[in-house]
Amino acid sequence: FDYELLTGRHVVITAGPTREPIDPVRYLTNKSSGKMGFALAAAAAEAGARVTLIAGPVVLDTPNRVERIDVVRAEEMYQASLDAVEKGCDIFIATAAVADYRPTVTADHKIKKSTEEIHLTLVKNPDIIAAVADHANRPFTVGFAAETQDVIEYAQGKLKNKNLDMIATNDVSGSDVGFNSDNNALTVIWPNGHKVLPLASKAQIAKQLIELIAIRHS
Ligand code: C5P
Repeated sequence: FDYELLTGRHVVITAGPTREPIDPVRYLTNKSSGKMGFALAAAAAEAGARVTLIAGPVVLDTPNRVERIDVVRAEEMYQASLDAVEKGCDIFIATAAVADYRPTVTADHKIKKSTEEIHLTLVKNPDIIAAVADHANRPFTVGFAAETQDVIEYAQGKLKNKNLDMIATNDVSGSDVGFNSDNNALTVIWPNGHKVLPLASKAQIAKQLIELIAIRHS
């Protein structure tokens, strides 16, 4: 591993889930642990980069020499990400499992138990990585795709639709990879190539992915 691979580069990484409030005590979220994003932040810092880690609610220690910005809702993660891109960064890696939808309204007070059936109306959250990739000050943009079926096909679609430079895909249908696991296996895809990173610790996978990003970016 080259400890000067990303010297002088600014890398911004989103990680973890987002939490979308229903009322003051309830929210919608998902199973993301944030481990992959935090491992990537550690690896990028070890490679000499300046690293900004935009983290949703997770229980993980901040890696050494990483600047961490804590956010809760997708809209906050969007704002922090676009702020970072506007100020200028070289590489943006989106590992966050952003909630696709949020409650249209957040109740001011705890919702009371009432009728047998109640309805929650949701509205789409902004697509953070798509906005970053479309920005005039566009960094090298890397996405993640956690899929349970037709992994490569869906990932190739996202690479194109979201205008990404690279996408890392993992099959989360098994229990030994992805989400809360300490291990991961990825297929990394870019517009005219791909590479398989076989099952390894998230720390090892992160270093390999950082190497691939550094090569493709330069
Ligand atoms: O479309 P999908 O959510 O599967 O795409 C996954 C990729 O897009 C991940 O890199 C994720 O961090 C990013 N994403 C995002 N903002 C969203 C939804 C997904 O940045 N609102």
